Amino acid sequence: MTTEKAEIGLIGLGVMGANLALNIAEKGQKIAVFNRTTARTTAFVEQAGDLAGMIVPCETIEALAEAIRPPRPIIVMVQAGSAVDEQIAHLKPVLSANDIIIDAGNANFHDTVRRTKELENTGLTFIGMGVSGGEEGARNGPSIMVGGTEDSYRRVEPTLTAISAKFDGEACSAWLGTDGAGHFVKTIHNGIEYADMQMIAEVYGVLRDGLGMQAKEIGAVFERWNKGRLNSFLIEITAKVLGADDPKTGKPIVDMILDRAGQKGTGKWSAIEAQTLGVPATAIEAAVAARVISSLRDERLAAERAYGPAATGTISRDIIDDLELALFAGKIAAYAQGFAVMSTASREFNWNLPLPTIAKIWRAGCIIRSQFLGTIAEAFGKDAGVANLLMAPAFIEMMKGASPSLRRVVAISAEAGLPMPALGSALAYFDGYRQGRGTSNVIQAQRDFFGAHGFERMDEPGAHHGPWGSGA
Ligand SMILES: NC(=O)c1ccc[n+]([C@@H]2O[C@H](COP(=O)([O-])OP(=O)(O)OC[C@H]3O[C@@H](n4cnc5c(N)ncnc54)[C@H](OP(=O)(O)O)[C@@H]3O)[C@@H](O)[C@H]2O)c1
Repeated sequence: MTTEKAEIGLIGLGVMGANLALNIAEKGQKIAVFNRTTARTTAFVEQAGDLAGMIVPCETIEALAEAIRPPRPIIVMVQAGSAVDEQIAHLKPVLSANDIIIDAGNANFHDTVRRTKELENTGLTFIGMGVSGGEEGARNGPSIMVGGTEDSYRRVEPTLTAISAKFDGEACSAWLGTDGAGHFVKTIHNGIEYADMQMIAEVYGVLRDGLGMQAKEIGAVFERWNKGRLNSFLIEITAKVLGADDPKTGKPIVDMILDRAGQKGTGKWSAIEAQTLGVPATAIEAAVAARVISSLRDERLAAERAYGPAATGTISRDIIDDLELALFAGKIAAYAQGFAVMSTASREFNWNLPLPTIAKIWRAGCIIRSQFLGTIAEAFGKDAGVANLLMAPAFIEMMKGASPSLRRVVAISAEAGLPMPALGSALAYFDGYRQGRGTSNVIQAQRDFFGAHGFERMDEPGAHHGPWGSGA
């Protein structure tokens, strides 16, 4: 190992941190690393192979600071929450002016905004950076969403560009806005990921229970779909997981996996932020709720005994082509919702989020990567003023083609008693969004009746009251 100082540092050698550090080292940057538990640091360097010479293991945070050439960029990749605050508190005394702390975990963007403020006037710079792509992405090229000052991004841009995923040669890394912008966008990315995964699971449910198909056969359907309009990482891995056997029993592994999914920060935060901003994100909300229902396994089993199971094997195979289009229509609605949340947040927090760029940096590296994001980038690029993805001309055409299938699939599944929370809510969102004359006139009348809230009239401006009980 040379005595030359490292160019960058990293704290937290868990799944993501270790892989990100190897990625950075492989791109030719010497990196100093520190982990709370030293044994993990030692094991990391031992397993780094040819890259070990590019890694400086440090046993203390002081040693970490000493090992990096100032001004130091230091990536913090630890569990989100108080661990990040602890690491910042440990770093502050050992860093000097112009050093940059980069929180690359899945932080709540409100924490990022707070940390940015707390570090103001300390001479240190703070970047909140969303990283997507899981273990494989961190090692070989993630999608990177950066929040902070533009100047601080420019200082780390060469490193981030080098380690990020590439789509047609374009780096999937971008500066998206100040303070919490990067972590907000990562949160919404994960919310969309929840919706995408839930809708896939719902379609799997129709194929399994409604059509009585076996896992491998369903996997083959997803494999075929992956060659068409649904082409994406999530469809690709769904085909693979459905095709995999359990080494213990020889049965399809999915048939051995308990139907209970957890939900952590980012999915829930997406739904909360959408609600707070007053933007409907029903597919994301439904996906979070569906995971919660999935976790109530004992209650579900008891309820099935009480009410009887859904009808199985009652749906004809003719529905398979509709299922592909239904998934596509649901996906359009879910992405429309996610982008609408980002568009509103952008105005609310003065971020000026570049929506076409966000779609572009999600085309590779991240979990929701797909062809489809290129079409979204084009739509927001061409129709900059478009209020909602559903109103971009290309998407109007796509939705006109796909929404009848979504309707058929939701109706047939409802008949059979098969749950469709995300696809069903996507359809309800679409129908509500495109209904010129809605039904809230009744809600307004009810509110005026019991609370004298007043209502607007169709034929004259101003606030009005109804003739309820007034004798008028
Ligand atoms: N896994 C993914 O697919 C993924 C994808 C995108 C983003 N993320 C985010 O990336 C971050 C890291 O995730 P991960 O999957 O790499 O986690 P992980 O494998 O569980 O590793 C957690 C790391 O955080 C450290 N840590 C935990 N509490 C700490 C504390 N109080 N003080 C100091 N260090 C502490 C651990 O150190 P010890 O070794 O000492 O325990 C370990 O290095 C999280 O914010 C996560 O949400 C994860």
